[in-house]
Amino acid sequence: MSSQLNNYKSFTYLSLDDSLCAYRLSQAIFSLYHLKIPEYLQQQGSQNSLQLAQALKVDYVILEHLLEIAITLNLIEKDEQNYYKLSSEGLRLCPDTPNSVIPILTHHDYGYKAWGELTNSLRTGKTAFEQVYEQDIFSYFRQNSEQNLLFNRFMEQTTQAWLATLEVEKNYKFSGHVIDIGGNIGALSALLLQQFPELQATVFDLEQAMVGAENLLSDAGVSERCSLVTGSFFEPETIPKNGDIYLISRVLLNWNDEKVKEILKNCYNVMPSESKLLILDFILFDTISTSELLASLNLWVMFGARFRRKHEFEQLLQESGFTSLRWIHLNEMIFFLEAIPA
Ligand SMILES: C[S@@+](CC[C@H](N)C(=O)[O-])C[C@H]1O[C@@H](n2cnc3c(N)ncnc32)[C@H](O)[C@@H]1O
Repeated sequence: MSSQLNNYKSFTYLSLDDSLCAYRLSQAIFSLYHLKIPEYLQQQGSQNSLQLAQALKVDYVILEHLLEIAITLNLIEKDEQNYYKLSSEGLRLCPDTPNSVIPILTHHDYGYKAWGELTNSLRTGKTAFEQVYEQDIFSYFRQNSEQNLLFNRFMEQTTQAWLATLEVEKNYKFSGHVIDIGGNIGALSALLLQQFPELQATVFDLEQAMVGAENLLSDAGVSERCSLVTGSFFEPETIPKNGDIYLISRVLLNWNDEKVKEILKNCYNVMPSESKLLILDFILFDTISTSELLASLNLWVMFGARFRRKHEFEQLLQESGFTSLRWIHLNEMIFFLEAIPA
């Protein structure tokens, strides 16, 4: 492991002193968002700090400090008359703007509390999120409809931003009937159905994850070739049995090895003998950036999981009964891994 550690790229632009208080910046941004300052400026146009303080009922002087921080982050601009207005980057803190950061901001916002338990979770192996919120994250989504919707929106956004640009459809010939395991609101299935006119798909996920799926599929014009099935991959009897390709996209990264094997074995047990398993996930190579490592720690904090290396995926698949593994790399970190039930 130490030789791999030598290859880790690190942030060079944050000093130790700056790193220690980096949380202040994210908290300042969360406050801008929760006070609805971006939304207010978007709707009302330029305002001076007094007008803003009165409208938001906050202390005028400390509000100015927050606004000046936002200026240094290029979120807000100030004119010669000391009127503040939203920058184009700041517009991303408003709902319903293209490229809005609110879905990921929300994830970091509830994640922040869980990150406070990082040390304990490293010591005990217990998932920090579950220690803080007394339930796992998917149960939390079931009870918090707003966070659930925003998580689904985040999945849709990242499918568009990452997967659509990787042209997954050009790297793998999809045919027959795809079962999209943990397919969320079906953003990836919709993309594939648009690219492969003969393809059929079933999106399979927990009930709460399907909120918004019908609209997404209908907007994409693929509803007729896509069905929605609710269930759990931990309840094998609920997993659809009629697939040609069992697609598991960005799901295994949420689970520890034991749970991954349970998911894979449950799929294995219902898969027709001619069908294929197709994993779409992230992989760690020897050279890893600090942001990838932080994302891996985030998986640990939120889900009790972490990014995996190539050989770890291979071992998990083999131990779950799969064979004939074939790697198809989509970029330096995202891949397809095809396997068939042995
Ligand atoms: C990180 S998201 C990935 C969504 C989608 N596959 C994608 O690539 O955008 C993980 C998905 O796993 C689903 N999931 C979690 N637990 C599940 C379970 N027990 N059975 C089925 N799906 C589950 C979540 O609801 C969520 O939609």
